[in-house]
Amino acid sequence: MNPDVTILYDTIRWEEKALLEAGKKKNINIQMVDCKKLALNLEKKPDEYGAVIQRCVSYYRNLHSTAALEGLGVKVINCLNTGVFAGNKLFTHMLLKKYNVPTPDATVAFSKDAALEALQTEGFPKVIKPTVGSWGRLISKLNDKDAAEGIIESRESMYPIYQIHYLEEFVKRPPRDIRAIMVGDKIVAAIYRISKHWKTNMALGGTAEQCEVTSEMEEMCIKAKNAVQGDIVGVDLMESDEKGLVVHEVNNTTEYKNTVRVCDVDIPSLMLDYALKVDK
Ligand SMILES: Nc1ncnc2c1ncn2[C@@H]1O[C@H](COP(=O)(O)OP(=O)(O)O)[C@@H](O)[C@H]1O
Ligand SMILES: [Mg+2]
Repeated sequence: MNPDVTILYDTIRWEEKALLEAGKKKNINIQMVDCKKLALNLEKKPDEYGAVIQRCVSYYRNLHSTAALEGLGVKVINCLNTGVFAGNKLFTHMLLKKYNVPTPDATVAFSKDAALEALQTEGFPKVIKPTVGSWGRLISKLNDKDAAEGIIESRESMYPIYQIHYLEEFVKRPPRDIRAIMVGDKIVAAIYRISKHWKTNMALGGTAEQCEVTSEMEEMCIKAKNAVQGDIVGVDLMESDEKGLVVHEVNNTTEYKNTVRVCDVDIPSLMLDYALKVDK
């Protein structure tokens, strides 16, 4: 029997197991495919996959397997454009601006000297982020010129993507941010991620509490999701003292373990329903 839905993964986390369990409960035929074992003949339409839920952790594996499958006519959630747009903080920033979604002010500089000059003109503190990355990795707060020089200089010897210096205003806000999980045009659940550290990622020790969804938040998240052409995404927002809600990231392969735990919403089941609906 052909699968209804394929979960494409490279690491099995709680999220992937939960999708498989939800499928069993709902009598949906789920196929688990380890992308590390996959070779796709690009000249031949592949055997049945059903809708593919893309769950690869590796940025490159995720993007390229989506490109191949989508190119061969398979419905992949999220699509290639979303992987490209949401997978890159600069690309996302430009699209959020285009679609009038409030987002922190940012500057991009293409060399160490240009970055230091921009910082000197614009002032500190600033946040420097790799345009591609997650879990707060290599994101630094630049408090002054000395810190900026050291951090930016160390990036000069890294892979070229780290020499694209993406600088954001440091947003003054409560010691938390918001992760809203969107399935289609709905926030199915949202959490505050609270932390003593300025980076509130759960991966860095943040704690989760349920966040009441407001209509303002939902409208903003729908616009953010559509800006990157997403289907199922995790939108990260901050409550800026100056600007109110701002979106700082859209995650195209979002984690949702803590959101399920805290909000008691069956996100995997809603994801499967959505995948079946859009693949018709
Ligand atoms: N401009 C900013 N001002 C203040 N805090 C920020 C800013 N950008 C990010 N953060 C904090 O750092 C965390 C990680 O940033 P984010 O852009 O979501 O990158 P990642 O993809 O690594 O999760 C956010 O969840 C938030 O707590
Ligand atoms: Mg984030």
